Amino acid sequence: MIYGVDYYPEHWDSSEWRSHSKLMREGNFNTVRIAEFAWGRLEPREGEFDFSWLDEAISVLAEEGIKVILGTPTASPPRWLVNKYDIYMRDKYGRPRGYGSRRECCSNNPYYIERSKEIVTAMAQYYGKNPNVIGWQIDNEFGCHDTTHCYCEHCKKAFGSWLERKYGDIKTFNKTYGTVFWSHEYESFDDVILPAYNSCEPTHGDIRTHNPSLDMDFMRFSSDSWIAYAKMQTAIIRRFSDRPITHNLMGHFVDIDYYKLGETLDFVSWDNYIEDQWASHTYEEVSMAHEVMRGVKDKNFWIMEEQSGPCGWDVMGGTPRPGQLRLWVYQAMAHGCEGMVYFRFKAAPFGMEQYWYGVLDHDGIPRRRYYELQKTGEEMQKWGHLFQNAQTVTDTLIVKSYETGWSHRIKRHTSGFDYDGIVHSYYRANNHLGTNPAVGSEDMISDKYKVVYMPAYSIVTGTLKEKLENYVRNGGTLVLSYRSGIRDEYNNMTTLTLPGKLRELVGATVEEFDAASVDVKVSGGLGKSTVWRDILSADSAETVAVYDSEFYKGSAAVTVNKFGKGKVWYIGCDLEDDALYKLVKRISDDAGAEYIPHPVGTEAVKRISDGKEYTILLNYTDTPQTVSCGGADVTLVAYGIEIVMKGIL
Ligand code: GAL
Repeated sequence: MIYGVDYYPEHWDSSEWRSHSKLMREGNFNTVRIAEFAWGRLEPREGEFDFSWLDEAISVLAEEGIKVILGTPTASPPRWLVNKYDIYMRDKYGRPRGYGSRRECCSNNPYYIERSKEIVTAMAQYYGKNPNVIGWQIDNEFGCHDTTHCYCEHCKKAFGSWLERKYGDIKTFNKTYGTVFWSHEYESFDDVILPAYNSCEPTHGDIRTHNPSLDMDFMRFSSDSWIAYAKMQTAIIRRFSDRPITHNLMGHFVDIDYYKLGETLDFVSWDNYIEDQWASHTYEEVSMAHEVMRGVKDKNFWIMEEQSGPCGWDVMGGTPRPGQLRLWVYQAMAHGCEGMVYFRFKAAPFGMEQYWYGVLDHDGIPRRRYYELQKTGEEMQKWGHLFQNAQTVTDTLIVKSYETGWSHRIKRHTSGFDYDGIVHSYYRANNHLGTNPAVGSEDMISDKYKVVYMPAYSIVTGTLKEKLENYVRNGGTLVLSYRSGIRDEYNNMTTLTLPGKLRELVGATVEEFDAASVDVKVSGGLGKSTVWRDILSADSAETVAVYDSEFYKGSAAVTVNKFGKGKVWYIGCDLEDDALYKLVKRISDDAGAEYIPHPVGTEAVKRISDGKEYTILLNYTDTPQTVSCGGADVTLVAYGIEIVMKGIL
């Protein structure tokens, strides 16, 4: 199994590489990811490449049996490049992003594209068949530091062409967007603006006033631009190398449509920081992020950067507790990871990330974290095969859509509305129940899943409608919620009675809705709704719960409709965790979906490998927990894990 570290030989004197490599081998690490920010050292002057130092580093590592994932260094252009070419992104006010950090370049900038092609070609040609290079990582974290959207002239031109390809002629474009609104009809695609702020300086209220179809297409275009840039790199590498290509994604990040990005990658990898300067993620959020990453290609994935110490840029999050580093590996594996690489091997005393502690601290002396990972590495060599090509055993799917997310972001409905939060709440309820849901795109919907959740799924096309009808007709259970089916693919509101194209499936009509910030009780012990209430009238559906106050007291809040051999649940309002859990349990029981009961703070995840089924039990709390599994009670120590498999336990 791949068990590695992120290593920056260019940060250290070459005389140290040998001792570092030795410590890696002794720590049971067998792989490094390398070079993804070393453009300056690899091409010190335009067109002059120097691979000698990297050759040496790779062979020193190879002497200790360590293989390499080679990064293309395009996320950090060297100084000469930005001095010669203006490759900076522009912000909403046209200001260049400027030098001194990274990811400052625009994916539609012809100079940046040209120089990227040169360095990627040179590296692919040179290292494509190197026996120590076992894979490639293109670039680094597309979109990170808020760099997906750019407002430069190159983007404006590219956006016009993108729109022309999509709509063909300007008349169709104007009609689709409804640009007649406020006299926004365009005469040509060249003239279409980028939806930056227009005279919405803070004094006028920092609001977006653009056409929502334009906003949506700009989000699609920006995401597509980075994907085209990624494809440019993967195509070059594939000409010279048959090694698998990945990119390091960012879990819950939503500015780039990862389903589309995934199409150009051989496998997905991602960067998992549980607690750093910016966030402290709950275990459910981390498990869901793993599932989102697995859903990108509906395939197992790697972690390319896993937290290995306390970390942050200017301030730090907490240090991993004894046992947590090990626990996090098993958590990742339980949710589909099959290669684990730690960020970073040794903390850098200089540069922006001085506080990003790694497996080793600045003094390079192995301590607790190194030894915990060393021991875990030993276990991985023993048990790792169980996770290779293993499949997740679940019959529940949660569908998450980047485009639907963008539509909610563009027009948020009401201040308390949060699409990501809603999807998370459905994940959390399922996680607590133990259905261990998969998370993925609408393409993953199939009769393999007994229950499919599509909360707040705003954009519904004719194709999706048909797909959902077939799924339910054949016996599936579909769960929809408020704000589903309200829009078409152009981000216009449907003129159909809500829930639009889904109305027949739902068997109920949204007569009205109420987003007033009042607490409204929901019958059947479902607590209260505080954000959004669809006021439903059941047509063919049966009413499951009603509202208990306001002018719509007695109106349906939750319905269930029989459709063919299946059922469609419609949850018309936001619900608190306990209530959603109850409902999810009821839905799962009704559909016969499998789940493994376990205490909150733990997980019980079933996987199958080589025809053998096993359950991984994980305890995220700092106290012992008992989980019943396979008829026996298993006690997990604080942050402990157990694998329950016939013949093992
Ligand atoms: C990641 C990034 C790494 C490093 C790390 C710590 O997001 O890919 O290059 O910067 O964060 O900040």
